[in-house]
Amino acid sequence: MQFNDVLELVRDDLERVSEAIRANFESDVALIPTIGNYLSNNGGKRLRPIMVLLSSRFAGYAGARAITYSCVVEFIHLASLLHDDVVDEAELRRGGPSANSNWGNEASVLVGDFLFAKSFALLAKENVPEVLTSLSQASCHMAEGEVLELVNHGNLQIAEEEYLDVVYRKTAALFESCCEIGAYLGQLDAGAAAALRAYGRNIGLAFQLVDDALDYVAHEDRLGKSIGKDLEEANVTLPLILLHAQASPQERAFLNGLMEAERVDKRDLATVIEYMERYHIIEEVLGRARAYADAACEALKPYNANGDSEPLMAVANYVIERQE
Ligand code: FPP
Ligand code: MG
Repeated sequence: MQFNDVLELVRDDLERVSEAIRANFESDVALIPTIGNYLSNNGGKRLRPIMVLLSSRFAGYAGARAITYSCVVEFIHLASLLHDDVVDEAELRRGGPSANSNWGNEASVLVGDFLFAKSFALLAKENVPEVLTSLSQASCHMAEGEVLELVNHGNLQIAEEEYLDVVYRKTAALFESCCEIGAYLGQLDAGAAAALRAYGRNIGLAFQLVDDALDYVAHEDRLGKSIGKDLEEANVTLPLILLHAQASPQERAFLNGLMEAERVDKRDLATVIEYMERYHIIEEVLGRARAYADAACEALKPYNANGDSEPLMAVANYVIERQE
């Protein structure tokens, strides 16, 4: 099964999710739906809703709650992107100007707050404590992950475990929660629910490692956002950690200089990419991402007797091969 087949499988559900997203962006404060529509019309892979929908199906649940929760996880994700693009001073998102470029930082932060608040209003209405607990914990992790990333800016000595902890919190925790929601809706037994959570966690880790590799080597047009942002912000991700560990003393001195520099230009980025090519760093990062995706599939193997895990496994493959 390919990712396109997955999209076909959930097409009607995703249409309903889009309707729910549109409806819940409504507000008599016009700027909210304006930015909301801008965000939800300009693409986005809807990967987190897909995770909720597929894990619900996997667990044997086909009711309306999966649509509402898909809308909620997309809102939490969009809120976090609005805030993240302010923090990262990002100019592009999903192939167009970011919301902060178009409307400024204040509007982005505040509409992010609306989306985040709306997520919890929807959760309150559903009144399912298990799902509320899962998504509130994931949201705390996301904020902790971003803070931890911030305090480690410029820290080329950061241990890989600490970097992976940041990745778990800022990205993988929400993926894990999406799968936990499906497991809960389908009332899976403890073993299968744990397997689904492990799948989600590993997909999230793989997703962020690929994101961190693409930040150095993607084609901007396909990626839809600027490359080289992590270096510019002295945000130390796995490509830089692995490079720093293998680099010569001169190369290390150059990298250390960049962490302190006022400005990092295209030439500096090209030099770092050249070093990364020398040590096959991106291959190494993508290899590790592949290992997480494999671990995700491995967790679901015992539950694939009737091909039930196939769509989720196809997502694992997509996460690794994506260029956008
Ligand atoms: C993108 O990372 C950002 C995240 C995965 C998480 C952002 C989380 C917050 C801002 C805090 C929590 C906020 C809420 C509302 C829950 P990235 O910068 O590596 O990816 P990018 O390249 O797509 O920008
Ligand atoms: Mg960012």
